Amino acid sequence: MKILVLGADGYLGWPTTMYFAAKGHEVLGIDNYIKRQFAAEVNEEPLFPIKTLQDKIKYWNIITKSNITKYAIGDITNYEFLSTVIKDFSPDCIIHYAEQPSSPWSMFSYENAKRTIENNLIGTFNVAWAVKEINPDIHIIKLGTSGEYGSPNTDIPEGFFEYEYRNRKETRLYPREGPSIYHTTKIQDTDLLHFFVRTWGLKVTDLMQGPVLGIVTEEMLLGNSVPDHTLFTSFHYGEHFGTVLNRFVVQAICDYPLTVYGKGGQTRGYLNIKDTVQCINLAAETPPESGKLRIMNQMTEVFTVNELANRVQIAGTKLGLDVKISNVPNPRKEAEEHYYNPEYSKLLNLGLQPNYLTADVIMEMMQIVQQYRKQIKQNTIFNCNSWNT
Ligand SMILES: NC(=O)c1ccc[n+]([C@@H]2O[C@H](COP(=O)([O-])OP(=O)(O)OC[C@H]3O[C@@H](n4cnc5c(N)ncnc54)[C@H](O)[C@@H]3O)[C@@H](O)[C@H]2O)c1
Repeated sequence: MKILVLGADGYLGWPTTMYFAAKGHEVLGIDNYIKRQFAAEVNEEPLFPIKTLQDKIKYWNIITKSNITKYAIGDITNYEFLSTVIKDFSPDCIIHYAEQPSSPWSMFSYENAKRTIENNLIGTFNVAWAVKEINPDIHIIKLGTSGEYGSPNTDIPEGFFEYEYRNRKETRLYPREGPSIYHTTKIQDTDLLHFFVRTWGLKVTDLMQGPVLGIVTEEMLLGNSVPDHTLFTSFHYGEHFGTVLNRFVVQAICDYPLTVYGKGGQTRGYLNIKDTVQCINLAAETPPESGKLRIMNQMTEVFTVNELANRVQIAGTKLGLDVKISNVPNPRKEAEEHYYNPEYSKLLNLGLQPNYLTADVIMEMMQIVQQYRKQIKQNTIFNCNSWNT
């Protein structure tokens, strides 16, 4: 296949680019480095130095002795840029990661909220419009978030559900309720894509992904037991851009108590970064029929934040660390104890082989972070930037 990866410099985009290239697909990665700028503004550069997308791709092509991976640097909110790339490259599949991905960052200021809305909604709109104009047969794989559902007091289906109201039945998108500006843009992305699918028969898979954890994917190992750090992906650990388990691992390594927000009963579905790339591949290999939005919940296991903290503490103890847990005032406005029961069987039925969160997985992450301990900026780990002020 010809695969266009939007957001190829990012945490998930880079491992995805390598994954498809390693399978022999022709891959073109796009990025405008905006995440690097957003992160620098809040002093949250990644833990490891990360080469530019151009340099990563050049290096990848040299060590894999291939030239099937290419890049284009530009902004997907610029329609002319995006549509020209799509026309020239003529992809079979577009994997759309290119968004501002942080809920705390989107809540930080008027400017951040506005940039999140403009970037995410115009980007998604441009992708859908370009595909409609150029070739509606291109399969769009869009990264949504499981956070779109909020934390309802009923089970959560994979996208659509059937309901009965005044003796009549209907099937509709399950009601969503975003807890942040970021999540609200993701909900609106889904609605936009659904509209394009219904109206112009596009082929779209929208993946409601839970928080991702982990550092190493198969392609960084190049067949060895130790990863090649030059191929590492951006790993954030700060309050704005670090996902919770990645943050806890860094806190454990630098003797900072794990910052559990409030009571810690917040429950979410998680997955390993190795499973993200597997899921994208399974979606790419099985495009949906045109005119039907396919939604799959992308997660492999469900934990409360307290359970995650306890697992990090146990793994830390095995490595001789004294990991403390601290319940800090919750900067977010969210339920701290709630019912949570999402379905997530579609990707498993397509063949997903989960990499579950074992102590070994956490210890492997800790050992890598330990090598970069001196670069950890403690003052960015937690400043309790409240969403409500
Ligand atoms: N990481 C997670 O745990 C997680 C969980 C659920 C959903 N997601 C979703 O997955 C996607 C990727 O997440 P990530 O963690 O890799 O984020 P990331 O910020 O590391 O990667 C996104 C990349 O897209 C680029 N980008 C953003 N806007 C762009 C634009 N207008 N033009 C070109 N490039 C642009 C950024 O520079 C960045 O490199 C996001 O849509 C996010 O909402 C991520």
